[in-house]
Amino acid sequence: CGIVGYIGNRGSQNILLEGLKKLEYRGYDSAGIAVFTKNGLEITKSKGRLANLEGLLSEEPLEGTVGIGHTRWATHGKPSDLNSHPHTDNSAKFSVVHNGIVENYLNLKEELIARGHLFVSETDTEVISHLVADEYNGNIVEAVQRAVKRMRGAFALGVLTEHEPDRLVAVRYASPLVIGIGDGENFIGSDIPAILEHTRDVYILNDGEMAVLTRDAVEVMTTEGETISKEIFHVDWDLVTAEKAGFDHFMLKEIHEQPKAYRDTMMSRVSEDGKSVDLKELGMSSDYIKSIRKVQIVACGTAFHAGLVGKTVIETLARIPVETDVASEYRYRSPIITPDTLVIVVSQSGETADTLAALREAQRNGAKVLAITNVVGSSVAREADFVLITWAGLEIAVASTKAYTSQLIAFYLFGLHLASTLGTQNASAVAEVIAAMHQLPDQVESILAKSDVLKKVAESISHHKHLFFIGRGIDYAVAQEGSLKLKEISYIHSEAYAAGELKHGTLALIEESIPVIALVTQEELYEKTLSNIKEVKARGAHVLGVANEGFEEEAGKSVDELFVIPKTLPLLSPALSVVPLQLISYYASLALEHDVDKPRNLAKSVTVE
Ligand code: G6P
Repeated sequence: CGIVGYIGNRGSQNILLEGLKKLEYRGYDSAGIAVFTKNGLEITKSKGRLANLEGLLSEEPLEGTVGIGHTRWATHGKPSDLNSHPHTDNSAKFSVVHNGIVENYLNLKEELIARGHLFVSETDTEVISHLVADEYNGNIVEAVQRAVKRMRGAFALGVLTEHEPDRLVAVRYASPLVIGIGDGENFIGSDIPAILEHTRDVYILNDGEMAVLTRDAVEVMTTEGETISKEIFHVDWDLVTAEKAGFDHFMLKEIHEQPKAYRDTMMSRVSEDGKSVDLKELGMSSDYIKSIRKVQIVACGTAFHAGLVGKTVIETLARIPVETDVASEYRYRSPIITPDTLVIVVSQSGETADTLAALREAQRNGAKVLAITNVVGSSVAREADFVLITWAGLEIAVASTKAYTSQLIAFYLFGLHLASTLGTQNASAVAEVIAAMHQLPDQVESILAKSDVLKKVAESISHHKHLFFIGRGIDYAVAQEGSLKLKEISYIHSEAYAAGELKHGTLALIEESIPVIALVTQEELYEKTLSNIKEVKARGAHVLGVANEGFEEEAGKSVDELFVIPKTLPLLSPALSVVPLQLISYYASLALEHDVDKPRNLAKSVTVE
């Protein structure tokens, strides 16, 4: 979910709506705002996209200079008008927007019901507004502090009460929240882009901190009430990056930004002579690196798929054993974490609750954590022991593309850094990988230039209900990402299989004309994969091969259609081979007329467990 808030002298409605537009990537199944109008605290909210809310407000605007807003990704209670935020209490004098989950809300709710409170929604958030109202005896700050003390879970809150119309109270507890500092006006937002149009000076709240905003001041304190003097964080990037720059969708724009993202992520991390990697920025001592006995890579979704590639990269280059886990499983499988384990968490947003929990679990067990993330100042970046930023820039489309490939680049850099420190690769081997990495941006451009071919492939795929991605070794890791991408935005059912494993069961699903996308980029595995392609073709599958230059002739004989990617080192091939898969998903989604950037049921950043 995403929250915004405004207190100032301008009309708050449009400021809130504009902020919510920037936050839609955090969820978009309902939206609402609460504003102090001349009639008191008024709320307008609606199920569905922000456009529905805008429609309602254009008919009946809420006029006032203080307000809070919310865009929702449902957790407790289905998307509906009633479950939308902001919520209020029975006196209708309090209003709350909330991102996160209150774990003990049912107990609190029972208690409040026993005290006479009546509830209209199924949400945990409504419980907060009642709780604050219940705790109120003349001071909203103290009421919120008492309420928060009783709540367990993860939350960021914006709270208003009609009793004190010149104050906006904000709380951060394990869900992100920033405060924007303006001139005669102040803001709250779940992230910086939501308020960037109005100010570049922000306070980034930490867990357990709250802020009391008036028009002219922001007071930051702990939820216990101890004053904190915060440093201002000055934002030096601009909003243009958040616009589509001429592309039809953010996803397509972001796919095309990959060459730049590769260059930016590599920049200043490769020595001037281009022969070695320089990751001094990590502050990771060579003694520490030499003490690492095991690596665990933990992430969710697409970032997890980058981790699968990362495993091969680190094992190949540095010969350290690597385990991979999806973050929601990691914590609960009682993983063996020792002080000589390096845990690498990968997260585009740096706010994914499952990933953050895994990071904390690792640290609790004495391991050090390296975060590979795209957001400076994100929770993951702030809590990790070491941080490697992927300089992909703001990613808006829910389906991740440039963040994923930048994560691959980060893994290559880090793998080389380990290898040089440990002496597992000699200088010329390292230089060879770096030289090949420098070619990747142009090679991606050459793939993008052939988008038309992929559009046709996608259009024919869009008529099918099921399909398969297959590959061996690192190609299998890419197959998994290709399959996820397609599912996310085209809603076509697809599965990724290790090509050699098909025959142990799944081959039974192969029938006449089913599309199979086969990745064949690993020289050592060419022949084996081609045999697997023959197995599916013999059962009637229609195979699209993605193979690298130099192998097109042989691969061409075994497949129905072939897409050739430029030649690179086997280890680097994911940074190229995933690009046609991204484009196929994009064009399939387009052909099916889905909302490419905002697929159903999903959110860009999931800050609940
Ligand atoms: C959500 C998104 C996925 C993303 C995953 C991890 O589920 O829909 O696209 O891969 O979160 O996000 P992160 O920000 O941690 O990389």
